Amino acid sequence: MAKKLFVKTYGCQMNVYDSDRMADVLAPHGYESSDTPEGADLVILNTCHIREKATEKVYSELGRLRALKDEAARQGRRMLIGVAGCVAQAEGEEIARRAPVVDLVFGPQTYHRLPELLVRALERDALGGARVVDTDFPAEAKFDHLPEAAGHRGATAFLSVQEGCDKFCTFCVVPYTRGAEFSRPAADVLAEARRLVAGGSAEITLLGQNVNAYHGIGPHGATWGLGRLIRALADIPGLQRLRYTTSHPRDVDDELIAAHREVPALMPYLHLPVQSGSDRLLTAMNRKHTAEFYRRIVDRLRDARPDLALSSDFIVGFPGETDQDFADTLRLVREVGFAQAYTFKYSARPGTPAADMGDAVPEPVKADRLSALQQLIGAQQVAFNKAAIGSVQPVLFERRGARPGQLIGRGPWMQSVHADAPDRLLGHVVPVRIIDGHANSLSGAVVTIAGPEPAPPAIERVTA
Ligand code: SAH
Ligand code: SF4
Ligand code: F3S
Repeated sequence: MAKKLFVKTYGCQMNVYDSDRMADVLAPHGYESSDTPEGADLVILNTCHIREKATEKVYSELGRLRALKDEAARQGRRMLIGVAGCVAQAEGEEIARRAPVVDLVFGPQTYHRLPELLVRALERDALGGARVVDTDFPAEAKFDHLPEAAGHRGATAFLSVQEGCDKFCTFCVVPYTRGAEFSRPAADVLAEARRLVAGGSAEITLLGQNVNAYHGIGPHGATWGLGRLIRALADIPGLQRLRYTTSHPRDVDDELIAAHREVPALMPYLHLPVQSGSDRLLTAMNRKHTAEFYRRIVDRLRDARPDLALSSDFIVGFPGETDQDFADTLRLVREVGFAQAYTFKYSARPGTPAADMGDAVPEPVKADRLSALQQLIGAQQVAFNKAAIGSVQPVLFERRGARPGQLIGRGPWMQSVHADAPDRLLGHVVPVRIIDGHANSLSGAVVTIAGPEPAPPAIERVTA
């Protein structure tokens, strides 16, 4: 009988991708994915360490899982619990000490070893001994040791092309949890993309902690940047849309800007984190760019692709942040104009340089700044969504909506679009007239095309 695997994913899209790949690794070993931890033979928490809250969530989930594991034991079943991802990498053995319910701990670079780790965990469960902990950064690349990614990921799919980070922003744990920057060879990426398209994906989002630092080996030994890779991917028949995330302002090069100008499949929406609008803070954060540099990159991107919409990440309350620093951030937001953005209160992370800077911003000040920033960005987001009313957007339908007969998809600018549409349009790009714009979504009506079957339209730019 098939064994049941339940993976719960926290954190960024790279973890979402990794969780799918873990399921791929375990499938030949008889594990089938399940939607709930109840009755699972193996539960994996794929964790995030980016802020304190993210880490704490893992420990409360482990508390809940203990009851399930005890229940399984009473029924004479075995339930193994694994902690993977960035908390596993950062805390290792400490996790098993704090939560003895955990059987195995393994970091983001070792999940190709999962079958072997599981054998050891099962042995330990039967015979006792030390817990299985693997937080190595192995010399071999995990991607070279994984079975092929399953092709059926749905209308939109993630594809990791790059991992790790060498930037060392002073607030961030990623360089420590994911390790040094590494790019997959272009041929591997292209092969995986072809399988995804053959499996029904119309859109692929290229992933990396620093995705535009991509520098993979190309077919003839030359190094390819992300722009070159995007051009090659865009030639895959049936691949209609490309996106990439997360990029760093410093790594936006001419080739990438040219791809935005010339590759129609590259969607006009870019997540480009800036963190702060104050040069003083950007220096303290070791971001390696100024606010002016960011503005210039945005201008060049918009020059290449005038309808480009931007989103970003911001941290408020970084050590030493003054009212003036924060005012500089608000000014940058006003000047650039964002379609959306993620805002975070600074969270001191053990082992990062900023955690030792002192000069903490008091909690109430952080909270006030967060809410002021959210208000400004929220207003920009609503205005962006309202501006879409009346336009016709090509929408890729991804899933059923809450109401019967309703589908949900995304337009070119990442907005969620709800429309009444038959299930057969799932996975297709369909023209939708936008009727209303809300805080977080758009509603629209499918534009009927004469003829028996609405043909998926070519993707074009639609002016809002
Ligand atoms: N690689 C991406 C982002 C990685 S983490 C980049 O370079 O931008 C995602 C976001 O979490 C970051 O952009 C940052 O805004 C936020 N973040 C990272 N560390 C944080 C911390 N210690 N406290 C609060 N927010 C943090
Ligand atoms: Fe973290 Fe900075 Fe690297 Fe992004 S660029 S992952 S914020 S260290
Ligand atoms: Fe979190 Fe690790 Fe991603 S810390 S944001 S899961 S890289």
